[in-house]
Amino acid sequence: MPIIVVRSAEFTQLHVLQAAADQLREWFGPSSGVGVSPIDGRRPMFPEEEAHVQRAVSRRRDEFSTGRWCARQALAELGEPFGPIPVGPLRNPVWPEGFTGSISHTDGGCAAVVARCAAWKAVGIDLLDRDAAATLPAGAGRFLTHRHEDLAASASAPAWVPPLALLFSAKEAAIKALSPWLQRFVDFHEIRLQFDEGAFTATLDGAEMKVAGWWTTVLDKLIVTGAAMNAKTAKTAKS
Ligand SMILES: CC(C)(COP(=O)(O)OP(=O)(O)OC[C@H]1O[C@@H](n2cnc3c(N)ncnc32)[C@H](O)[C@@H]1OP(=O)(O)O)[C@@H](O)C(=O)NCCC(=O)NCCS
Repeated sequence: MPIIVVRSAEFTQLHVLQAAADQLREWFGPSSGVGVSPIDGRRPMFPEEEAHVQRAVSRRRDEFSTGRWCARQALAELGEPFGPIPVGPLRNPVWPEGFTGSISHTDGGCAAVVARCAAWKAVGIDLLDRDAAATLPAGAGRFLTHRHEDLAASASAPAWVPPLALLFSAKEAAIKALSPWLQRFVDFHEIRLQFDEGAFTATLDGAEMKVAGWWTTVLDKLIVTGAAMNAKTAKTAKS
């Protein structure tokens, strides 16, 4: 019988990512698929994907190809055959007809969520690891926060989570859901968050547009956020 040696850092990484995947499944429900993986330079890409990172440094190639691999795993869970996931004009992944989804990377790992459009019109996810959360510059609040934003409600997060880091991650998830839907770039200060325990609502300035979100921490190593637009909200937003 072959002996598989998994280094302890890799094991921890995988364990954390799998716990994040469980949480994402719970949030996005049975009409969604989830893929996670440590960053792995051996993941194959389709030619159009390869072309996108042709001139990129190897680290970027690896996170991009791992993200695509996670996305294909997520699609496969929903019965979709393997195929390319091109890059859209806003740097967003372009999903197969009838699907929406989102990809996020950290230093060590990637996650992707894909959902049927019948279930969610748009989704966004973000993973932020503990070290990255701790190094967010205090001055970042200037360009991250909305003038009417109150961070106090995020106080139910563990002590190692800086409120600004949670806000940053939640806004990234909301932006990833909103930006392809609106077909434009969305900035942090356009979005106002309201936190509740384990959840948040992101409202886009000047529009009757909201996305519902969730947040959690995983094994004291990772902040995970998710945002989703349902059919009802999407209809209001487009009208
Ligand atoms: C766009 C943004 C959300 C990406 O997040 P990030 O912290 O750089 O990195 P993450 O690893 O969490 O996510 C990266 C993934 O987000 C996805 N992504 C990038 N731009 C996106 C967009 N406009 N809409 C949806 N998803 C997007 C991609 O899948 C990308 O990975 P890939 O290039 O390997 O496919 C982030 O740069 C951001 O919040 N910017 C806000 C301000 C801004 O720049 N606005 C303009 C962009 S909308």
